[in-house]
Amino acid sequence: MRFLTAGESHGQALVGILDGVPAGLCLKAEDIQKELIRRKKGYGRGDRQNIELDAVQILSGVRFGKTLGSPISLLIENKDWKNWQKIMSVKEEDQSSERKVEIPRPGHADLTGAQKYGFEDMRNVLERASARETTMRVAIGSIARIFLKECGVQIYSRVTQIGSVQDVLIEEWSEGLLEKVEASSVRMVSSDAETRAVEEIRNAGEAGDTLGGSFEVAAIGVPVGLGSYVHWDRKLDGKLAQCLMSLNAIKSVDLGIGHEVAKLRGSEAHDEIVRKDRGIGYASNRSGGIQAGMSSGEAILLRAHMKPLSTLKTPLNSVNMTTLESSPAHFERSDVCAVPSAAVIGESLVALVLAEEILKKFGGDSMEELIPRIREWKEKDKFL
Ligand SMILES: Cc1cc2nc3c(=O)[nH]c(=O)nc-3n(C[C@H](O)[C@H](O)[C@H](O)COP(=O)(O)O)c2cc1C
Repeated sequence: MRFLTAGESHGQALVGILDGVPAGLCLKAEDIQKELIRRKKGYGRGDRQNIELDAVQILSGVRFGKTLGSPISLLIENKDWKNWQKIMSVKEEDQSSERKVEIPRPGHADLTGAQKYGFEDMRNVLERASARETTMRVAIGSIARIFLKECGVQIYSRVTQIGSVQDVLIEEWSEGLLEKVEASSVRMVSSDAETRAVEEIRNAGEAGDTLGGSFEVAAIGVPVGLGSYVHWDRKLDGKLAQCLMSLNAIKSVDLGIGHEVAKLRGSEAHDEIVRKDRGIGYASNRSGGIQAGMSSGEAILLRAHMKPLSTLKTPLNSVNMTTLESSPAHFERSDVCAVPSAAVIGESLVALVLAEEILKKFGGDSMEELIPRIREWKEKDKFL
């Protein structure tokens, strides 16, 4: 499975192509739409979410509600484009300096992107560096999720921290927990933590500031043996960390107990191997469902940490790249906190990696070919 996305934040549309989905997967635009609506939610997001409908169209790869095995292409129009047609025009004759960006925001792509590509107008950078691109990644990832569901794999997420507010620890994912998270304006389990997080976001916003935080993505039902220990670029933990690190503003990723492991003794850090009903399993899941780059059959537990967003209403100091004079950084409509959205996006990114790994291990051109192979593998596995 491979995919490409294209499109500028205020350009005409976002475009995506997903190749490698087997034939015979039931797929409706409404199923993709549901995930796009989840991505838009979350207290702390800016006005753009109210403008955009994120209505997805499936242009190819599906016939009569089922995938054909051919590339699936998707289109999401940017509603805001009507206000940016001249500024974002593809035509040379429309060139102007309207809404030119000359003062880079510390922490954003502006300065380094302009240095790298030789741009004077940093709008050329921020339009693509913007997390608007993740709308299409969610659309594409939602197809991977639907595929994974057919393979018996479920993906969940929740926010574990916003600013200084931490959500409660949970032992295990359950339907009840999921309902609470989906109903929460910040994707937290505890309503007390939700109230405090909302207040902290409001305070930060009023001060012209922003907030970051952490979220968890869990994948349940992943078969043993995805990924491999035999070569660095086949390790599943490496691939999952990379996909989450590729999400805008994510600065570190933990697997299982993550960086906490560094301060433990060996006797406290590992998952003991024990007899279970049908064979052998683990007494705990500190490793987060991956051993030596391979899925262990336990829940895969990932945690990603997001920095506070870099567009500040009360801007940090910067330099005007035309005049070389010190100046407050550029401000443009922005979120105060986007951790709940990042969690939903994280689900899609993890889904894309796991879907690809399932196809690598079990193969098949159609769902009809693939599903019995997974079932057979799960039944044959003498340790489970
Ligand atoms: C869902 C989501 C929404 C975001 N919204 C904003 C925003 O409104 N303003 C902003 O400055 N950064 C926002 N970001 C983060 C920037 O896109 C990101 O910091 C920037 O592209 C630089 O990349 P880096 O932080 O990964 O180094 C958002 C990120 C995500 C995941």
